[in-house]
Amino acid sequence: MSPTPHIVVLPGDGIGPEIVGAAQRLLESLGEFEFEEHLLGGCSIDAHGVALTDEVLAACRASDAVLLGAVGGPKWDTTDPDAPRPEQGLLGLRKGMGLYANLRPVRPSPALVGSSPLREERIAGTDLLVVRELTGGIYFGDSGRDGDRAHDNCEYSVGEIERIARTAFEASQRRAEGSGRKPRVTSVDKANVLETSRLWREVVGRIAPDYPDVALDHLLVDNAAMQLVSRPADFDVIVTENLFGDILSDESAMLTGSLGMLPSASLGVEGAPGLFEPVHGSAPDIAGQGIANPLATFLSVAMMLRHGLDRPEDAARIEAAVDAVLDRGLRTLDLAVGGEATVGTEEMTEVVLKELAA
Ligand code: IPM
Ligand code: MG
Repeated sequence: MSPTPHIVVLPGDGIGPEIVGAAQRLLESLGEFEFEEHLLGGCSIDAHGVALTDEVLAACRASDAVLLGAVGGPKWDTTDPDAPRPEQGLLGLRKGMGLYANLRPVRPSPALVGSSPLREERIAGTDLLVVRELTGGIYFGDSGRDGDRAHDNCEYSVGEIERIARTAFEASQRRAEGSGRKPRVTSVDKANVLETSRLWREVVGRIAPDYPDVALDHLLVDNAAMQLVSRPADFDVIVTENLFGDILSDESAMLTGSLGMLPSASLGVEGAPGLFEPVHGSAPDIAGQGIANPLATFLSVAMMLRHGLDRPEDAARIEAAVDAVLDRGLRTLDLAVGGEATVGTEEMTEVVLKELAA
């Protein structure tokens, strides 16, 4: 890796440019970074007719890490199978960069437990990680329309399942280091119905003995959805296929009551650049008003520093700064409950920068 990390910045649509701009200021306060900005999603469709151009994909592959805001908005919503859609940009990046492992940590900030839709005693102690397979399954299988029918195929190979299972087991071992908690992986599938799920369960079970310190259990996805709201604190690492992971990660995100707080990392093979983005979307309804919550993007920058740029100390400093400003009662609009005073994107950014400098 070059001494000055080369970051491709993809602000995207909606609130994307506001939160990514704030995140660039955060990075600049930590040291030297080279930024290269490109279009992705709806803005790229407007400019080039496609959500992701070959040039942008090539730039991302040649970078040290990619920071993404969000893509999409009502302007580009369509059911026309031939029209370009912003999401194709994201899916094209995931596939084109080989980002098969999506990590979505869910840890309610202690200051925000009151915003959870769950009772405090139920949410207390929740600290889990969703490991979602990101380049296979129904998202990338053959699909199409034939007269009045449509199909989307779901396929998985042994190799695809094995590598994501290893990511999950290793993540759970890392989380256990120094925390004293017992590592546990919950593999989620629909093995009572789907053949891909039966292969999934078989492969995960077969590699589990390589990680004898990690407890493994299997849950059917409908049951997992239920257990997540009834006993969220019992989960450690959840590993699952692409579509189940999409759904369960939004459910897990809402456990905290603030989707606006959750970061994510999408990673490929060792040494390849990763992609880092907040879990929340482009929020077109509040775009351009200066009120978007930049904290999930800040926490995504922390994941970038930890997983992409090997700077774990800086990552920990950002996480501590975010916790500290929340502790002091600073809230963006999405976090405020019962008429609490709120700050905008700019002020929230300033306060976090000040906290980092302190
Ligand atoms: C996500 C999003 C995407 C997905 C969409 C925007 C294609 O929901 O990252 O979870 O379904 O993977
Ligand atoms: Mg989703």
